[in-house]
This record gives sequence, structure tokens and C-alpha cells, in this order.
Amino acid sequence: MGFDIQSDYSHCMMAAEYIKSRIGIKPDMGIILGSGIGPLADMIEVESTIDYTDIPYFPQTTVSSHKGRLILGTLEGVKVVCMQGRFHFYEGYSYEQLAMPVRVLSLLGVKVMFLTNAAGGVNLAYKPGDIMIIADHLNLMGVNPVRGQYYSEFGERFYDVQNLYNESLRKIARKCAKRSDLTVHEGTYMFFPGPNFETPAEIRAARMLGADAVGMSTVPEALTAGHIGLPVIAFSVITNYAAGMSKEPLSDDEVRVIADSISHEFSAYVKDVICTMNEVYGTEQYKKYREQ
Ligand code: HPA
Repeated sequence: MGFDIQSDYSHCMMAAEYIKSRIGIKPDMGIILGSGIGPLADMIEVESTIDYTDIPYFPQTTVSSHKGRLILGTLEGVKVVCMQGRFHFYEGYSYEQLAMPVRVLSLLGVKVMFLTNAAGGVNLAYKPGDIMIIADHLNLMGVNPVRGQYYSEFGERFYDVQNLYNESLRKIARKCAKRSDLTVHEGTYMFFPGPNFETPAEIRAARMLGADAVGMSTVPEALTAGHIGLPVIAFSVITNYAAGMSKEPLSDDEVRVIADSISHEFSAYVKDVICTMNEVYGTEQYKKYREQ
């Protein structure tokens, strides 16, 4: 697999140009779906799909629960490009390489990033099957996806992440939560590198640091999007009590069973969020960009 993935401007452009040559729409929203949450992609009215294997210089998924394709189409009236299958640090990609897909989506023209993941609940009030709107994150890995050679095309050298998980979008997500059948929290996601689930001691430490949920994704993508200046909205599906909090062994199977069990309600919630974003926030934002 492609450990020679480069996140520099020219490689990202080559991948984006290839994708553009195969699609008939200009997407406004980028969506990246987490493990077990792939069925959300079924809601998209598909215009075209492109396997990652066809895209020059693009990373390849190595996780069986992650399909590896881009879906282009319309979701609740919004033109979207959806990554069905994402890339992780634990697969061997460097943090820097994890910048590439989001940069490529930005070159396709997306103006907002919508991210989902499966996560372990750390907050004592969270239960499997709950949702968490990500309000902030803890990234104590000592790394950043946009570290290294600086490409001005993708943002400033130093950048502000105080509103990384965009407050206006979170407000919409909170509003939609009130009419959803799910229990929706808002909290802090802590990135762990995996592939092991965390130790009980790490989870106790995470809780002391202020984490509400833990997982192995999303933060590299959010940091890349924030660098480019794309607003991010991100959701964790709480699939299990984090390590040390229950007697159940932690497994990917459990993660998938819980994610599947709420996929119907979660899809309905996500649809509502996207639809409302389009009405409340999106239209202005999208209109502005469409008119350019
Ligand atoms: N830890 C890390 N990643 C996860 C978990 C967890 O408990 N659950 C789902 N993804």
C-alpha cells in the first residue's frame, strides 16, 4: 500500500484533477464516515462513485469495516462528496499523510467538512448508543497533520483552532438533537493512536484531562480542515464504555453491533442536521461560494 503518499500541493492536485475528470457535480460538503457508520452513505442520491484504488496517489483503506470509495451525489439537497472509508494513523500512515484526503476534497471545492466516528464513552453519563457532538479535542500525540513543509495553498503556517468544531454548526446540531430519538451530548474527543483500545489507566487519565470520549480518528482530518479554513462539524457514535468501565471485552465487533443498532436513528439525525445546515447556515455560505 502507498506509504509514499504525499500531502503536498502537486500530489493533491493530481488526485483532485483525476476525480474532477470523472464527476459531473461540484461538491459543497465533504463527508467522512467512521467504522460501522458507513450505511449513512446509502442516503446519498448517487451521481458517481470512484474507488480509492483508481485515484492517483490516494491512500488505500486497509480496514475490513471501511469500504474504500468516494461517493458523489446529493444529500438533502446538498452536493456532497463522501469518503466511505477513512485512513488512520494505526494503519501505518503518518499524521502528515493523513492530511491528503481532506486537502483533496478541499480542492474539489468543498466548503464544510462533516465527520463521524465510533468512539468509546469516557464520561460516566454516556451510554453505548448515545451520540456526542464534538465540541473540542485533546491531541496529546505531539504531532499535527500539517507539520512539515509549508504549502501556502492550504493555509497559514500558524493557525487558530479555538473554533475548529464550528460553533454555528454545533448550534444547529444541538437544535436537531432536541427532535431526535437519540441521546445527544456535546463534549471533548480525545485522540488515541490505536490499534489497541486504551488501557484502563489511560481512560482514567483521559477523564481527568477532560475527555468525554476516545477514538482513533477524526482529529487529523479536523486539524487539516481547520488549517484550510473549512468549518468542521463532527459526531461520535458512542459504541462502548471505554476501557475499565465495564466487564465486557472491547472489540471491533461490539463497536459495529452498536453502530448498526442505531444507524437508522443516526441517519435520520444526520439528515436533519444537514438539511438544517443548508437552510440556516449553508445557504448563505454556499451561495457566497457559488457566486464566486
Ligand atoms: N477506544 C478507541 N476507539 C474506539 C473505541 C474505544 O473505546 N470505541 C470505538 N472506537
